[in-house]
Amino acid sequence: MTAADTALHAPALVPPPETRITEVVFPQQLNHHGTLFGGEALSMMDRAAFVAATRHCRSEAVTIAVDQVDYVAPVRHGEIVEVLARVVGTGRTSMTVQVSMVSEELLSGERRLCGKGRFVFVALDDAGTPIPVPQLA
Ligand SMILES: CC(C)(COP(=O)(O)OP(=O)(O)OC[C@H]1O[C@@H](n2cnc3c(N)ncnc32)[C@H](O)[C@@H]1OP(=O)(O)O)[C@@H](O)C(=O)NCCC(=O)NCCS
Repeated sequence: MTAADTALHAPALVPPPETRITEVVFPQQLNHHGTLFGGEALSMMDRAAFVAATRHCRSEAVTIAVDQVDYVAPVRHGEIVEVLARVVGTGRTSMTVQVSMVSEELLSGERRLCGKGRFVFVALDDAGTPIPVPQLA
């Protein structure tokens, strides 16, 4: 790799302040109304929340509870769907992750909040026993 390549890709190595998963909604992800199926949305939210929790604790982590998920607007076929997740609370071994799901219209760039949720994860050691997590500042 050249020095120019190293400099070009250096920003990608900076840890992001929040976790984002971005996809385009394809036909196999739709319900019979032609909008994103709720289970697909929930899966994306749980995956983003898992990454955020794992980045926080840097150990194994599992979802122990989905506190609440609200679908506030439909995501349409062909739109970009983006899920943002960040740890907003810590207990002794648990982490609460706030998740926002946003749609983005491809051509206009208009963004709408389509879903939100709070997921709780527990950090585990190799034996599957809950272990303390770093406390949020
Ligand atoms: C994760 C697991 C090992 C925890 O075991 P446990 O005996 O329940 O552990 P504890 O009672 O010590 O609870 C651990 C933490 O979770 C929290 N917790 C437990 N149940 C909770 C719930 N329903 N909602 C929110 N937090 C909860 C506890 O308050 C505790 O947090 P703290 O240490 O920050 O105070 C066990 O519950 C498990 O294996 N669950 C299945 C996880 C899984 O398979 N997830 C994938 C989804 S299918």
